[in-house]
Amino acid sequence: MESRQYFDTVAPQWDNLREGFFSEAVRERAFDAAGAVAGKIAADIGAGSGFITEGLLKRGLRVIAIDRSGAMLGEMKKKFGPGAAVEYRVGEAESLSLDDGSVEYVFANMCLHHVESPPAAIREMTRILKPCGRLVITDLDRHDFDFLRTEHCDRWMGFDRPDVARWLAEAGLVDVKIDCVGENCCAASQGGCGEAAVSIFVASGMKI
Ligand SMILES: C[S@@+](CC[C@H](N)C(=O)[O-])C[C@H]1O[C@@H](n2cnc3c(N)ncnc32)[C@H](O)[C@@H]1O
Repeated sequence: MESRQYFDTVAPQWDNLREGFFSEAVRERAFDAAGAVAGKIAADIGAGSGFITEGLLKRGLRVIAIDRSGAMLGEMKKKFGPGAAVEYRVGEAESLSLDDGSVEYVFANMCLHHVESPPAAIREMTRILKPCGRLVITDLDRHDFDFLRTEHCDRWMGFDRPDVARWLAEAGLVDVKIDCVGENCCAASQGGCGEAAVSIFVASGMKI
């Protein structure tokens, strides 16, 4: 199964699955890294059913939620209803349908390990930031749990932090920081391949 089909299929269960994988502490760590403040506009890339978007709305931001899976965005729409300060867009992380300098923050939680080209996605996420805007990526450290590829359709088996820091710097971001979130992403194999526990990093940088 390819990634889009996988997420279209699991969309109705994603919130329950996500709760088993990682906690709200991940998004709080991301918001702290961004210094996210009310009244600003953020893009949530690979937004899924709205884990990051929900936290941003609670903090008083407006959100453009982008995901390649219409089914995941559909779940988010149902959850937040018509009055929410969210714009929903089906789209690809590597070719975002937003103008240069559109948003104050870009967040991507657990999306980078699904994209075809992580450096291209990071360049694109940087392009849509306003000057002084911040990109924050929360994702998996490198691991060797192959069942996350075969059962969860992951494209990359996590990342080495120096690579991620280099991609942010090459995209033109400054004040690049990368640190531990302080919690693992946990998943049990449905095919008898054991249990994964993978540490999560938070990477951030500012556009000049
Ligand atoms: C692991 S889920 C994370 C969803 C959400 N960010 C969360 O934390 O619950 C990854 C999401 O990224 C989306 N995705 C994967 N590759 C993508 C791409 N190239 N462009 C846009 N979205 C993508 C998937 O459809 C899925 O909704």
